[in-house]
Amino acid sequence: MTKVIAFANNKGGSGKTTTCSNVGCALAQLGKKVLLIDGDMQLNLTISYFDEETAHAFAESGKNLFTAVKEERSLAGFVTHTPFEGLDMVPSSSLMSGVEFELFSKWQRETVLRKCLRPVRESGEYDLILIDAPPTLGVWVMNILCASDYVIVPVEASPWGLFGLANMFEFIDKAREISRETEVLGIAVTKADERKKYFKQTLETLKSLEGTRLFEQYVRVDSAVEWSQDQSRPVVAFKKTSRSAVEYTNLTKEILHYVDR
Ligand SMILES: Nc1ncnc2c1ncn2[C@@H]1O[C@H](COP(=O)(O)OP(=O)(O)O)[C@@H](O)[C@H]1O
Ligand SMILES: [Mg+2]
Repeated sequence: MTKVIAFANNKGGSGKTTTCSNVGCALAQLGKKVLLIDGDMQLNLTISYFDEETAHAFAESGKNLFTAVKEERSLAGFVTHTPFEGLDMVPSSSLMSGVEFELFSKWQRETVLRKCLRPVRESGEYDLILIDAPPTLGVWVMNILCASDYVIVPVEASPWGLFGLANMFEFIDKAREISRETEVLGIAVTKADERKKYFKQTLETLKSLEGTRLFEQYVRVDSAVEWSQDQSRPVVAFKKTSRSAVEYTNLTKEILHYVDR
C-alpha cells in the first residue's frame, strides 16, 4: 500500500525541503519506489534535483503541480523522472504562489490535492509519496495534510525553532477533522549543533512533548548539505560518507520502521 508523508512546519528554514529531499533519495537507495511532490512555490525541492533551466521548463510546459491542481487532474500525468533510480517527482512552479486563490472557489477545497493524488496512490506504483510543504498555514497546506497519511515536522534546533510549533500542531488537529487518517509520525531535528548548550535544551523540550514522537536520529549542521544543494543533488547521493548523509540515512530507516510496522 502506498503511504503518503508530508514534511510540514510553518516556520521557514526548519529543514523541510532538505529532509524531504534526502529522505526521499535514501528511501530509493533502500530499494523503495518513491514519488516526491514539490508543494512550495520556491521550487527548492525541484532544484534539489534539477538545474534552474530545467525547473523553468517544467513551469513553461505546464508539467508541474500547479497546473494539475488548478485543472484538478490526476498527478499521474505530471510526473518526471529524477536522475535517480526509483525516484520520481512532480515539480513545482512559481505560479504556486497563486494556489490559494485557485483553491478558493473550488468545491471541497481542502481535498483537491487528495483527489489529484488518488489515481497515483491506487495504481500502487509507489511505495511512498513525500510532499514538501511551504511555510504557511492556509488552505494549500491543509490540502497537503489532508492528502497525507503521516506528517513529519522538521524542527531547527535553534532558539526560534520551537516558536510557533504549537500553531502547527493545532493546524494538524484541524486537518484531522477532515482527514481522520492523517497522523503525526514525528518531529525530526535538523541543523543540530551539539556544541551549543541551547541544543540540549531544545532536545529536552521536544522529548517532553506528550503524545509526539521525537525521532532519535537528528541531523547535524554540515556544509556538505549546502555543497550538495549547489550541485542539485541530495547529500545522501552527493557525498554518501558525509555525516549528514549518514544521519539522513539513519533517520530514513527510523521513519521506515514506523511506516512499515
Ligand atoms: N544539516 C544541515 N546543515 C547545514 N545546512 C542545512 C542543513 N539542513 C538544512 N540546511 C540549510 O538550511 C536552509 C533551510 O533549509 P530548508 O530545507 O530549505 O528549510 P525549509 O524547507 O524548512 O525552509 C537551507 O539553506 C539549507 O541549505
Ligand atoms: Mg522548503
